Amino acid sequence: MIRVIRGVRDILPGEAVQWQSVEAEARRIFGLYGFHELRTPIMERTELFARAVGETSDIVEKEMYSFPDRKGASISLRPEGTASVVRSFMENGFERQLPWKVFYMGPMFRYERPQKGRYRQFHQIGCELFGPQGPLADAEMMAMAMRYLGQIGLAEGLTLELNSLGCPACRPAYREKLTSYLESKKEALCGHCQSRMDRNPLRILDCKTPGCREIAQSAPHMKEHLCDDCQSHFDGLLAHLDGMQLPYQINPLMVRGLDYYNRTAFEITTGDLGAQNAVAAGGRYDRLVADMGGRAMPAIGFAMGVERLVLLLGEQNQTTPPAPSVYMVVAGPEAEAVALAAAESIRGADITLEVNLQGGGMRNQMKKAARSGAAITVIIGDHEAAQKVAQCKVMESGEQQEISLADLPERLKSDLK
Ligand code: HAM
Repeated sequence: MIRVIRGVRDILPGEAVQWQSVEAEARRIFGLYGFHELRTPIMERTELFARAVGETSDIVEKEMYSFPDRKGASISLRPEGTASVVRSFMENGFERQLPWKVFYMGPMFRYERPQKGRYRQFHQIGCELFGPQGPLADAEMMAMAMRYLGQIGLAEGLTLELNSLGCPACRPAYREKLTSYLESKKEALCGHCQSRMDRNPLRILDCKTPGCREIAQSAPHMKEHLCDDCQSHFDGLLAHLDGMQLPYQINPLMVRGLDYYNRTAFEITTGDLGAQNAVAAGGRYDRLVADMGGRAMPAIGFAMGVERLVLLLGEQNQTTPPAPSVYMVVAGPEAEAVALAAAESIRGADITLEVNLQGGGMRNQMKKAARSGAAITVIIGDHEAAQKVAQCKVMESGEQQEISLADLPERLKSDLK
């Protein structure tokens, strides 16, 4: 038997019910804020992710599913959604329609070590907002994410964590300070952090190794080295969050794993998922559009991991797919000739119906009808077929009535009410 790839999973019909409601609620809530859905391709040129997410990020360095196409162009399965949204924004000229607000949902691919809440194919629901520069936009995005999470039943136990990552005016000087501090502690850093000291020293701040964590705690933090503009942006954001009474925690060690962020970075975390504690994450990326060849364009966004949301919803995802309203028992060759047409007319009245397609005796078919969970069983035997009628059995009471096939859709509709 061929098995599914490691880190990749099926979303079984019972779980899919939960996924659909999580997705439907996203459409509804984001719609309240004026966001519209954008569907981008699952594969893009590798260069798009290399430039947007960053050559030195873990994602681009070692986690992408990349392959040459038949003409040798390097293609990658998308590891995240923001790069494609930026490409689409530029390519379709949405620079002329600001603010541009989109959401997206779908699979992403990263070759990570699989564990609870971390997969190689996972799904994100994300939102991106282009145009507004001030902290009002940041605060509204966070309020929207929290409202959504509250609506799907995850209000409890989530923490909104914030940081500012500065900008090109203040980050280089900070980076220098940080590097010289880390140099003095180099021996005590883990091997991985020692190797990324030159390329990406900020990432050392969120290393999970105990030794590195201790060093990070006493390291100089970006938050204390912001330029005046970044500081007033951050202060403005906090004031707006306070105004909405949206609780938050400032986390000076949050640096994010993608290189495109500046100023605001945020994560919504839970204590219930072990190491994979972020259910949502995002931030500002005011330079990305320009870095990709467009004009300067402030932007902010976030994405949520759907698997993590569903894991947190826990017990509720033990649903079974809904039962059909009607089950149809078909007994005899004459009956078969009329059954499908009758079934079609019933579905035409918006009634869910499952026909027994596997033959079998009456007793056996009635057992299947009971197992299906349908409220009503419609029985068509050769006798009924000849008379153009059906027996309708209400499963709960056992009450049975003969109804003409012509009247069946309407009768079922009113009985099911
Ligand atoms: P990210 O932090 O890489 O950010 O991913 C966002 C969320 O996706 C995470 O908080 C987590 O819930 C989920 N996630 C990430 N990797 C996995 C995985 N391997 N398995 C399961 N879930 C995962 C981004 O992707 C940015 N594009 C977010 C953003 C949008 N920033 C601005 N706009």
